[in-house]
Amino acid sequence: MKRRFDPSGPLKGTVTAPADKSLSHRAALLAAMTSDPVRVTGYLDAADTNSTLAAVQALGALVERGVGGDGILTIRGPGLRAAAAAAGVIDVGNAGTLMRLLPGWLAGQPGGSWTLDGDESIRRRPVDRIAEPLRRMGARIDAREGRFSPFTVSGSPLEGIEYALPVASAQIKSCVLLAGLLASGETTVIEPEPSRDHTERLLLRCGVIVQRDGARIAVCPQDELELRDLHVPGDPSSAAFHVAAAVLVPGSRIVIEGMAANWTRVGFLRILERMGAVLVGELEPAGAPLSPEEPVTELDVAHGALTGTTVEAGEVPLAIDELPLVALLGCFAEGETVVRGAEELRVKETDRIATVVDGLRGLAADIDATPDGFVVRGTGGLRGGTIASHGDHRLAMLGAIAGLASREGVEVDGMEAAAVSYPGFETDLASLA
Ligand code: S3P
Repeated sequence: MKRRFDPSGPLKGTVTAPADKSLSHRAALLAAMTSDPVRVTGYLDAADTNSTLAAVQALGALVERGVGGDGILTIRGPGLRAAAAAAGVIDVGNAGTLMRLLPGWLAGQPGGSWTLDGDESIRRRPVDRIAEPLRRMGARIDAREGRFSPFTVSGSPLEGIEYALPVASAQIKSCVLLAGLLASGETTVIEPEPSRDHTERLLLRCGVIVQRDGARIAVCPQDELELRDLHVPGDPSSAAFHVAAAVLVPGSRIVIEGMAANWTRVGFLRILERMGAVLVGELEPAGAPLSPEEPVTELDVAHGALTGTTVEAGEVPLAIDELPLVALLGCFAEGETVVRGAEELRVKETDRIATVVDGLRGLAADIDATPDGFVVRGTGGLRGGTIASHGDHRLAMLGAIAGLASREGVEVDGMEAAAVSYPGFETDLASLA
């Protein structure tokens, strides 16, 4: 589906951030790992998170959708140790988080065996990063070419391990912690840099003692989980598109309501502030003690001039999904914007170093790829042109924002990809324009 986004007048108004994708995946998984019913409000109704609901249903959970929409669900799970009741094929669609978290639960279900598979993009994304620690815990995993989907997880008795993550990835961390709930003894992960901590917070809510000591995070085996009702706040990664649009389009001033302000998710806003953007909102302070809560804020954003910045490796996991937007902002900033230590971008829904650099070049940006990021030279604006999403939701939405801020407009080829995380994106954007 092709869509054109023409240069826009000032963006004004208020928009509610759509439900958080990372938290929705985790809410469905942890609710299914609980045997009492869990009422979830604000669950994201998008392709990725619907794949997770279908997966937990395939594993024996009952999912009732509340009337009137608004993401109200009641999930009645089979419980922590009962997923072995089922075996078979699980379609993860386009959802990397589902593909990497679910095996942590399945690996500890002796007697069960499941094959996980997904779309063309998911088949290019590595799973050896979770297979390796799970095998060390005692799981049996067979993957295509040793590292890709489809792959089979056969449940086994697990033993706790201490595992130093080779990359700062919340998906690997979460997978190992979930498996740790079913293992004998303690399981510890050591992060090279902090990454999003939703799993740890939710586990605390489930009554699990999660010990964080610097880079070390430990959990103990559990008999069962207890989870009360849960609300999913707005997604900072989806809100980031509106934030970028407001900063780039002259005269804009918008408010984003209900956005999660967890410090491990707002790295993009910190980068933007450093580039000179004026943002008003209550973000959780960096390094805040681990808590079961997910703080929420209202964010007030206005247009402003930007200067280039350098994003270093330590900041990357806190802004990983927003780095394509940093490239776009860099096109408008004075001087050079550099992103380093972000080679993880190469294994996202697309190789986001290649697709972002090629895509923005097609709009006349002065940008070069590096092995672990990119360098953008700001030219004060962007001509426009055509950009292909390559089926990547964040690339589609990047193209739309580029269009509003460009001189000649942008045609996005493959706009339908936005529905993976944000089906209402075009409507929300239009409400501000
Ligand atoms: C996610 C973690 C990140 C992120 C992805 C969602 C999560 O991936 O890019 O969109 O929900 O845990 P990595 O953990 O692979 O960096």
